[in-house]
Amino acid sequence: MKKLIKDRVSIADSMLLIGIILAAVYWAIESVLNLFTTEQVDILYQLFPPDIDAIWPRIIVLCLFAIFGSHVQYTINKRKKAEQALVVSEKKYRNILESIEEGYFEVDLKGNFTFFNDSVSSISGYPKEELMGMNNRVFSTPESAKKMYQVFNNVYTSGKSADISEYQVIKKGGSKRNLELSVSLRKDQEGRPIGFRGVARDMTERLDAERERRKLENELHNARTATILGLAKLAEYRDKGTGEHLERIREYAKMLTVEMAKITAYKDYVTEKYIDDIYQSSILHDIGKVGIEDAVLLKPGKLSDEEFEIIKRHSVLGGDALAEIESQINGRSFLILGKEIAYYHHEKWDGTGYPDGLKGKEIPLSARIVALADVYDALTTERFYKEAFSHKKAREIIVNLKGTHFDPDVVDAFLAHEEIFKRICFEKRSKENVALPEQSERIFLQ
Ligand SMILES: [Fe+2]
Repeated sequence: MKKLIKDRVSIADSMLLIGIILAAVYWAIESVLNLFTTEQVDILYQLFPPDIDAIWPRIIVLCLFAIFGSHVQYTINKRKKAEQALVVSEKKYRNILESIEEGYFEVDLKGNFTFFNDSVSSISGYPKEELMGMNNRVFSTPESAKKMYQVFNNVYTSGKSADISEYQVIKKGGSKRNLELSVSLRKDQEGRPIGFRGVARDMTERLDAERERRKLENELHNARTATILGLAKLAEYRDKGTGEHLERIREYAKMLTVEMAKITAYKDYVTEKYIDDIYQSSILHDIGKVGIEDAVLLKPGKLSDEEFEIIKRHSVLGGDALAEIESQINGRSFLILGKEIAYYHHEKWDGTGYPDGLKGKEIPLSARIVALADVYDALTTERFYKEAFSHKKAREIIVNLKGTHFDPDVVDAFLAHEEIFKRICFEKRSKENVALPEQSERIFLQ
């Protein structure tokens, strides 16, 4: 580039002079020719004739050559300045590339390094002199090399830049680094592809930290789930013997919630977080039973109306307890759903439930879902005072209660997944067509 500029400078400097010389030569030739075509044979006379009219054409030619020379000189000088500015800019650009933290590299069409900054050398562990001309495959894992080859092909074919995530390289010492790359096509001045350029970011520490964060989050999530389940089981053991009911409830509730998410009206409301929250909190629906005295809760015989009123209090007791805990937690938590489920899982679609006699969509969706899951599990589970209903019988009861006890949409969600409900039901060794004693029907459907 510097040589080209120097050449142009020397040409530019001499263009005006060349123009004048050409004009002078033309002047001299015409003077000589005039010696043979006119009567005057004095060369000085022909060179500088006293009659100005005789030399007008020569003066015009002289001017034209001078103008031409000046113009060419101006144009070349202008281009020279632009090229010098380009050189300065390129130098500045290279300095910036050298100083950035991200690795910048240029490779030819075969993937051999033709330029790179210090960061690339540092990321790869290879000194500059070794890295120059080296193929990128040398320090890439086989999977990453394959990935890079495909990306190069795509970039070459489409002309569009592309990103590569989790590009793994093996450093000279043998340790692995995870990179994130952006690759684009390099072209020459005629627009022909000559290679690729890219920016590489070392994501190793960030990915490790992210992996560690997810692991801790997962452990915390599992610990939380186990704690909630343990807490809920404590309440459950008192009147139902085992806590397995809770594991089934949360599976049923999750299944119904996922199905409800397909309904346009709930699409934005039922998020993944909502589904996880309902999975976690549905098992707390009867937590308020810890506040019901044993004499009523564990009474084997028929309950009086007064005793039923006492049992019904478990929804408010549970809701109040969860509301109290929830109020002490900063930000949103799964207990918001836990609270509404505990309060309202005995409400009915037609407004005849308790504790508040809420109707239709006044009842929170979470409670409408858990209501069906709870009743289905109660119907299909064996207790010391009754045998289990078959799935068929439980289904019949639930369908009959569509639009009265249960939200019609939740019943439809149940029917959409009834095969899974049925399978879980079989796993509990349920029996077909077992009659439901009057006492237990009242308890479950109240
Ligand atoms: Fe309940």
